[in-house]
Amino acid sequence: MAAQDRRVFLVLLGVPGAGKGTQAKLLEELLQIPQISTGDLFRYNLKNETELGLLAKSYMDRGDLVPDEVTIRMVEERLTREDCARGAIFDGFPRNLVQATALDAITEPLGGIALVPLIGLEDDDAMRRITGRRVCRSCGAVYHIDFNPPKQEGVCDVDGGELYQRDDDKPDTVRNRLYVYYKQTAPLVGYYYAKGLLAEVDGGLPIDEVQANLKAALQAKGLI
Ligand code: AP5
Ligand code: MG
Repeated sequence: MAAQDRRVFLVLLGVPGAGKGTQAKLLEELLQIPQISTGDLFRYNLKNETELGLLAKSYMDRGDLVPDEVTIRMVEERLTREDCARGAIFDGFPRNLVQATALDAITEPLGGIALVPLIGLEDDDAMRRITGRRVCRSCGAVYHIDFNPPKQEGVCDVDGGELYQRDDDKPDTVRNRLYVYYKQTAPLVGYYYAKGLLAEVDGGLPIDEVQANLKAALQAKGLI
């Protein structure tokens, strides 16, 4: 493989609300590679009322996983875009062993996955974080009404967009998302540990401390 073909792929693992999206946005700046959030891609499709968005909606409303075939195809397409020429930060993908195996097949010819940070968080904290979350409708910046509030209530600091609460952030749906995480996604912790790729960080710390610990994990792997 030529040196210019080598890319850096990171996979962020963690329960819903652990801070994957928040940290992925910070890592995008640091590493100059894009965040690929399957949840954001589905929400974008839903907003634009595409066939994919309408299909995903029924699963997302319940907090269940969208079928693998559809999700994997969407990721493959996203990776063909030019901004992924140096790699990508996966947020919310893979979410089960089928997706993880597919991602291995995609990334192995390109140098493989470099690191899998696991952002650890207790379920009660996850619930508190999710129910207070607000997201910018236009740029996707993530806030929390108590832990990370915008300067002006309801308005994004970055681009002045409107902040909204996600439809799947109701307590009943969040409980199912946590259930689905433990049943389907948690086995990936062992999967990546066995490959020597896992780096655990405490997601219960403030945002800047989690970021500093992630940076340290990247440094330890020689990635920055
Ligand atoms: P997705 O959008 O991926 O949601 P999720 O995994 O449930 O994760 P969240 O986005 O809720 O949490 P996060 O870890 O990103 O936390 P955040 O940074 O926002 O998926 C949604 C749905 O799409 C799924 O249920 C499924 O239906 C479908 N889907 C997606 N991917 C799929 C796939 N691969 N296969 C099949 N279906 C798929 O932070 C949360 C809050 O906490 C924010 O308010 C933030 O400001 C705050 N916060 C963050 N860090 C800190 C901190 N350190 N201290 C204090 N507050 C903090
Ligand atoms: Mg997210």
